[in-house]
Amino acid sequence: MDGPSGSGKSSVSRGVARALGLRYLDTGAMYRAMTWWMLSQGVDLGDPAAIAARCVEPSIQPGTDPDGPTIHVDGVDVGGPIREADVTGAVSVVAAVPEVRVRLVASQREIIGAGGIVVEGRDIGTVVWPDAPVKVYLTASPEARARRRSAEVAGSTVEAQQQAMARRDALDSTRKTDPLSMAAGAVELDTTALTLDEVIAEVLRLVAE
Ligand code: ADP
Ligand code: CDP
Repeated sequence: MDGPSGSGKSSVSRGVARALGLRYLDTGAMYRAMTWWMLSQGVDLGDPAAIAARCVEPSIQPGTDPDGPTIHVDGVDVGGPIREADVTGAVSVVAAVPEVRVRLVASQREIIGAGGIVVEGRDIGTVVWPDAPVKVYLTASPEARARRRSAEVAGSTVEAQQQAMARRDALDSTRKTDPLSMAAGAVELDTTALTLDEVIAEVLRLVAE
């Protein structure tokens, strides 16, 4: 399941995994955890070489239960801190560093290799697991995505969310290594006018095909 922020990847992936009794992997949480660690270490995020050199250090362990996904860095639960504004604002810069991607993609492939899993991110169908039996590319209008996100974040406006998302979308879609794009063989699903349950039902239909 790939797509931009707020398209519904997490909610849809978890719903589909739950319905089918599968595991669930949030690869965005892994990039967020790496970013949290870089910030906590005071690594200069303006220096890609520094990010590349240090990215082998932290142990990043995602849990794969769709009812309660977890993420630990060196044994510390960072589920809360990785959703804070400082991490959200910096994650696209860290995720653009090729060495970071090589390391996290290897770890993702190890988890996926055991099978039976719904995986969400930006490059799952294109790079991480191009042989996935079902590939979905979720989209929604920028307004709908910003409205959804601002409903989740206390005190935020739709306009501010839309601006922040546009910046992140631009960075994620134009980076040199594995930019966000629709995979060959993926089905595009525009969720703007659909409810969450309708999107989950549509993905379950694709799986059953
Ligand atoms: P992503 O993982 O792509 O960033 P999320 O799954 O976190 O997106 O969705 C963001 C918010 O939008 C969540 O609160 C979710 O419940 C809501 N949402 C997701 N899909 C829909 C939909 N089709 N209709 C309405 N709200 C949705
Ligand atoms: O929840 P949201 O969709 O806003 O973002 P996320 O899925 O948590 O991903 C956070 C960031 O990680 C993205 O903006 C990308 O920069 C990066 N990411 C990536 O590069 N590749 C992935 N497979 C997943 C996320």
